[in-house]
Amino acid sequence: MKRQKIVAGNWKMYKKLDESHALIAEVRGIVRDEYRGEGKVVLIPNFLALPSAVRLLEGTGLCVGAQNAHSEDQGAFTGEISASMLQAIGVQYCLVGHSERRQYFGETNEICANKVKSLIRLGIKPIFCIGETLDQRQNKRHFREIEEQIVQGLFHLDRKEFAQVIIAYEPIWAIGTGLSASSDQAQEIHAYIRKLIANQYTEEISSLIPILYGGSVKPENATSLFLQPDIDGGLIGGASLRARDFIDIVKAMR
Ligand code: 13P
Repeated sequence: MKRQKIVAGNWKMYKKLDESHALIAEVRGIVRDEYRGEGKVVLIPNFLALPSAVRLLEGTGLCVGAQNAHSEDQGAFTGEISASMLQAIGVQYCLVGHSERRQYFGETNEICANKVKSLIRLGIKPIFCIGETLDQRQNKRHFREIEEQIVQGLFHLDRKEFAQVIIAYEPIWAIGTGLSASSDQAQEIHAYIRKLIANQYTEEISSLIPILYGGSVKPENATSLFLQPDIDGGLIGGASLRARDFIDIVKAMR
């Protein structure tokens, strides 16, 4: 069996509803005309645009993801959206533990672990985000940090559950800075993540988990990143807001 390749566009808190609709339609059109590959393309707009994104992308092969989900199915959690609400409208993927959520909204590995569990129970694939700060890398603590996030955020899952997970390695110093990790730096961490998974689960499971790279991916650096043996695609921020750039990154999936 071959690993699934994925390019996902995280639109963050950009694009009003009409702008989201226009971008979805533009991406849908160009992907249809230009992309023949087997990789999955996932669009991750804000919550307001999710129902129409599901509708607009039905039957196209493109998938829809959410940026966050609460782990409880329902309850008195003002301002939250549950994984079961996402499931009910047909969302297939969901980000968990993006560094912006960890940094600005206090998301801990424990909170992430609960979200992952709930999403998997409902058949939504979690895209679990991990990454180190510049300080941690400079002090050579990046491997330890990555290990901690993976162990605490994911290793409570049993084998069957874990097989549903997608991991996105996003070094925080590379997000929105224009400063991507080099292909070698990214590959080194991806290989390390795969080793952790093989030790905890099995070689086979490890070989089948898609591990995406995120952080200043652009059309110019996507090919060399995606050619690395343990990099299975990308989680794209800024460049996913421009249809042309995003498609060119999608086409870098071989
Ligand atoms: P940029 O591609 O803008 O660096 O953002 C990466 C990211 O955070 C995707 O989740």
